[in-house]
Amino acid sequence: MDYKVKDMRLAEQGNLQLEWGALHMPALMEVRKGFEKNRPFRGYRISAILHVTKETGVLMRCLKAGGADIALAGGNPLSTQDDVAAALAKDGIRIYAWRGETVKEYDECAEKVLDFDPDIIIDDGGDLHTLAHKHKERIRAIGGTEETTSGINRERSMERHSILKYPIIAVNNAYTKYLFDNRYGTGQSTIDGIIRATNIFIPGKVVVVAGYGWVGRGVAMRMKGHGARVIVTEVDPFKALEANMDGFDVMPMDRAARLGDIFVTATGDMDVIVGKHMRNMRDGAILSNTGHFDVEVNVKELREMAVKHRKIRDHLEEYTLRNGKRLFLLAEGRIVNLGAAEGHPSEVMDLSFCNQALSALYLIENKGKLENKVYKIPDEVDRRIASIKLKAIGIGIDRLSERQKEYLGQWDFGT
Ligand SMILES: NC(=O)c1ccc[n+]([C@@H]2O[C@H](COP(=O)([O-])OP(=O)(O)OC[C@H]3O[C@@H](n4cnc5c(N)ncnc54)[C@H](O)[C@@H]3O)[C@@H](O)[C@H]2O)c1
Repeated sequence: MDYKVKDMRLAEQGNLQLEWGALHMPALMEVRKGFEKNRPFRGYRISAILHVTKETGVLMRCLKAGGADIALAGGNPLSTQDDVAAALAKDGIRIYAWRGETVKEYDECAEKVLDFDPDIIIDDGGDLHTLAHKHKERIRAIGGTEETTSGINRERSMERHSILKYPIIAVNNAYTKYLFDNRYGTGQSTIDGIIRATNIFIPGKVVVVAGYGWVGRGVAMRMKGHGARVIVTEVDPFKALEANMDGFDVMPMDRAARLGDIFVTATGDMDVIVGKHMRNMRDGAILSNTGHFDVEVNVKELREMAVKHRKIRDHLEEYTLRNGKRLFLLAEGRIVNLGAAEGHPSEVMDLSFCNQALSALYLIENKGKLENKVYKIPDEVDRRIASIKLKAIGIGIDRLSERQKEYLGQWDFGT
């Protein structure tokens, strides 16, 4: 079996992590039971790029239990958990991932999983789908899935340019994904990453959150809960208004740059914090990004502006500017919750990965019936995931009576 991981001696620790993760992913374990019984992926190859965390490991084991043959690469040069990677290699998964890959190695790992000639391509960020489309003659995939907002932006662009060669299920756009993973998952794990990298005290700090989408909302809400004074920057008037009415200060980055102690970008956009902002920041300001790609804080400009650079400790670098101010960059400006912490907790990835598992199943069940478009996961699958999760955590809800259904569906009964 071909694989490349950091150290196979870590496999035992990886197994313990995977056990711990699975314990907190009851909904996915429920889906797995069906997969074990029906083996829907027997004879199918799945290639995936996902952050190699214990939660991803639980998903891989679930797909494998369903009969899939799997190749996996890490979602980011900094996000692989080497013990989990070793355990998955031992399971017989072709895994090419280790923490601290160079960008060239990251690309080579992506090539490797595509060489596996997949039927289904699971992606987080769109790198694998993009690569598959650059090797058009090689694609024979039934379809693919996409985990995150930034990936969907890229795949929708492929759809608009009529170059999409297979259908893609936008996992991110399920209610059971973005409402929980993007908001509460990132809300908690981003703060976790910032604290692990710095051990900074949050209460009383001025935290600038760039972007008030699902991720930004979660970060702003949880930072406020920690006692931070939160400033939001936005480009969308609706989101800006919403942030304002949620009780946050809203202003352009040009102003916020002067006020923040901690900056968190969460936009999926590039150049959100650039040199002109950095020059005006307070001495000691901390810069971090929780958007998918490392383009939100312009790290190249920061490096060029700096007269001195020191690594203070893991995931924390100091840059001294010509004006004497020291700025501190976390996780090289890469996704901080995965670079400096472990990503989202298992409980929330339980929902996201039920979506991945059931989207892969949906692609197989609808083989040949879908167009080369980006699809939202069907509502009934989304609802089913919410229902499985509620049941798994022991929460019951009311049901509409026939009379209520009739009332809600009528038009002629008012005041
Ligand atoms: N860290 C994680 O684990 C994690 C989890 C989920 C998503 N993500 C990533 O986080 C990013 C945001 O995802 P989302 O789901 O919140 O997207 P979203 O589309 O819901 O929100 C993005 C927001 O950023 C705003 N924005 C865009 N450009 C801006 C700019 N220059 N300045 C200020 N605001 C700007 C948009 O108006 C929008 O409101 C994406 O890159 C996504 O892939 C990361």
